[in-house]
Amino acid sequence: MTWLITGGAGYIGAHVARAMADAGERVVALDDLSAGVPARLPAGVPLVRGSSLDGELLRRVLAEHAVTGVVHLAARKQVAESVARPAYYYRENVGGLATLLDAVAEAGIERFVFSSSAAVYGDPGVELITEDTPCAPVNPYGETKLAGEWLVRAAGRAHGIATVCLRYFNVAGAAAPGLADTGVFNIVPMVFDRLTRDEAPRIFGDDYPTPDGTCVRDYIHVADLAEAHLAAARRLAAGGVAGDLTVNVGRGEGVSVRELITVIGEVTGDRRPPVVEGRRPGDAPRAVASAARAAAELGWTARRGVREMVESAWRGWLLHHGDRVRTP
Ligand SMILES: NC(=O)c1ccc[n+]([C@@H]2O[C@H](COP(=O)([O-])OP(=O)(O)OC[C@H]3O[C@@H](n4cnc5c(N)ncnc54)[C@H](O)[C@@H]3O)[C@@H](O)[C@H]2O)c1
Repeated sequence: MTWLITGGAGYIGAHVARAMADAGERVVALDDLSAGVPARLPAGVPLVRGSSLDGELLRRVLAEHAVTGVVHLAARKQVAESVARPAYYYRENVGGLATLLDAVAEAGIERFVFSSSAAVYGDPGVELITEDTPCAPVNPYGETKLAGEWLVRAAGRAHGIATVCLRYFNVAGAAAPGLADTGVFNIVPMVFDRLTRDEAPRIFGDDYPTPDGTCVRDYIHVADLAEAHLAAARRLAAGGVAGDLTVNVGRGEGVSVRELITVIGEVTGDRRPPVVEGRRPGDAPRAVASAARAAAELGWTARRGVREMVESAWRGWLLHHGDRVRTP
């Protein structure tokens, strides 16, 4: 098989490209480089620069590379931006997916993996989120992921495409420093950024109904996440998915913001106490995956813990921002 990885020069996409190439899969990456970095891709993985909204380009790439499966990661992912620019997010995330699925169907491709998100659940108020927990996203970004899942399943049914939707929980870490997330939108780089600016980490709300009052999340190492994609691709290639499959990708273990900041203090050596500010609108008190279906259906379980995520992310941060980091 040959797999097209859209968003392949992105933080997660490059890890997926690397994991699949290392495992002997043939891959080609497509990325508009709006947030992607070509140097993240391993040698031997061709990169096509272009958008998932460009149907003509997609048809050409699928034909020229004889693509037989697609892993679709290309998307805009900033929640606050999605609130400010909803039409742009729907156009990029849902419109880009629709254009891609048309090209996939036309090319007769029968295997498709979609990057979804725990954001589809919103604030479900349950101890462990299963794939059957009702979806009620609380921002346009999460809505585009849920609408994307609906579209993926509908196109799968219409055109005989076997599909897997992977709902990622909170992604962190790096398989190598050069592959680290360069954006400052997720909590780990946000805390690194504060420390680098000689400022205390911020906690948004410590009066939630959780053990220490701060929000609880399920953190997943990006290298584990990449292996989940490989497992999904192989399951599809083996004909092991009849119709569609939707799977949480998490560790099934909750870590509070305060606990995470403590680990970051241990790893960076900067243990200054965090400052507590008001709650942010839309933050669920708890979002932890049930990881049972991923184990049963994909034979995949996360292997790396939170400390490994923070240590590897910190090595990446030092590579990209080391000149600004002072030794405590
Ligand atoms: N990072 C997370 O915590 C997280 C959690 C859940 C889901 N996701 C999803 O995972 C996917 C990858 O996220 P990431 O963290 O690697 O983000 P990223 O921004 O690093 O990667 C996205 C990549 O897609 C490219 N891209 C964006 N729009 C495109 C388009 N229309 N056509 C072609 N290329 C385009 C960007 O240049 C970038 O390289 C996204 O779909 C995101 O919604 C991420």
